[in-house]
Amino acid sequence: MTVSDAYSPPLFSIAPMMGWTDNHYRTLARLITKHAWLYTEMLAAETIVYQEDNLDSFLAYSPDQHPIVLQIGGRNLENLAKATRLANAYGYDEINFNCGCPSPKVSGRGCFGALLMLDPKFVGEAMSVIASNTNAAVTVKCRIGVDDHDSYNELCDFIHIVSSLSPTKHFIIHSRKALLSGLSPSDNRRIPPLKYEFFFALLRDFPDLKFTINGGINSVVEADAALRSGAHGVMLGRAVYYNPWHTLGHVDTVIYGSPSSGITRRQVLEKYQVYGESVLGKYGKGRPNLRDIVRPLINLFHSESGNGQWKRRTDAALLHCTTLKSFLDEVLPAIPDFVLDSFAFKEATGREDLFADVRRLLPPPYGKESSKALERMPTRPVILDEEE
Ligand SMILES: Cc1cc2nc3c(=O)[nH]c(=O)nc-3n(C[C@H](O)[C@H](O)[C@H](O)COP(=O)(O)O)c2cc1C
Repeated sequence: MTVSDAYSPPLFSIAPMMGWTDNHYRTLARLITKHAWLYTEMLAAETIVYQEDNLDSFLAYSPDQHPIVLQIGGRNLENLAKATRLANAYGYDEINFNCGCPSPKVSGRGCFGALLMLDPKFVGEAMSVIASNTNAAVTVKCRIGVDDHDSYNELCDFIHIVSSLSPTKHFIIHSRKALLSGLSPSDNRRIPPLKYEFFFALLRDFPDLKFTINGGINSVVEADAALRSGAHGVMLGRAVYYNPWHTLGHVDTVIYGSPSSGITRRQVLEKYQVYGESVLGKYGKGRPNLRDIVRPLINLFHSESGNGQWKRRTDAALLHCTTLKSFLDEVLPAIPDFVLDSFAFKEATGREDLFADVRRLLPPPYGKESSKALERMPTRPVILDEEE
């Protein structure tokens, strides 16, 4: 049996999103779905290494959040090794390496993120280093290309080299390329076109590997359509942040075939209140503050009666409330009882035919070239940790 036979990637995961998928958002998400895999925000290896005395504030999470994946980023093998070792104590279910972030701070000054797609040999080394410092499965999240390096063959070279040089058997593919100059990170998630055909061609050309599709999938119906079309897993980001109830509320039933949790938003908020009060100021004055804890709740009533009022009252209440209880007492009356007490029963909607035509668009198979990909790579000095 090969590693890839034994390993099953998550069917549904919530994307890593800096500033969004913090402990508070993940707590809310887990109250709504028991099965979705949660990702942390990206943490730079250097942050973990330099904050060794303060790791809990970056790495600790409640056991309810399992299954959970830590995403790390970096360009220095020693720091990646050490960060992985330090993170190990926290029992993450998987470690994911970021090869998709186009932000100038990361892919520019930091020289990691999406820029690493141009250096697959380094990524292979990094993944080996990460894997040898953890028992958790290791995975890569990447784009389908960077700048002019956007051919299907170059993407295949990247996948081939990384999976040949390391135990990486699962890739999460954000199905658009990254443009490293001239576009803001948010434009880089909007302007380069989605090319789902590259994703589905990877399924065809690397049958021993696992692939999760990401990018532009807006509902659980569309996630289900991707799985039915052959994707091993689906990852959603913005849709689950902007509309957590009507997306995550259907994951357990539609994707995992489990019974509905039968929870209402009133009950979600009661549980979240207990969580929120317990963590307010846990790491010092204002860390976290009430605004941090309220942020994930803002979209809980997306497209429901009272949503506008809820948001307006939230802005006003955050100016003076100091506890989550006083905040909710002030803001919650904006939402009618029938909304607060309803289940996620409305039928999930979305484009069931999102991937219907994609097989007609597949690029030609990645073939013999693959065996030469490693030879074509420039050799790069390997940074080794003397102490290892
Ligand atoms: C606010 C924000 C922050 C993000 N931060 C990260 C990150 O830390 N690591 C990462 O790999 N991707 C990050 N992404 C990209 C998402 O993980 C995802 O790949 C992208 O949003 C496309 O998926 P979607 O169309 O479902 O949103 C971020 C996206 C957003 C909107």
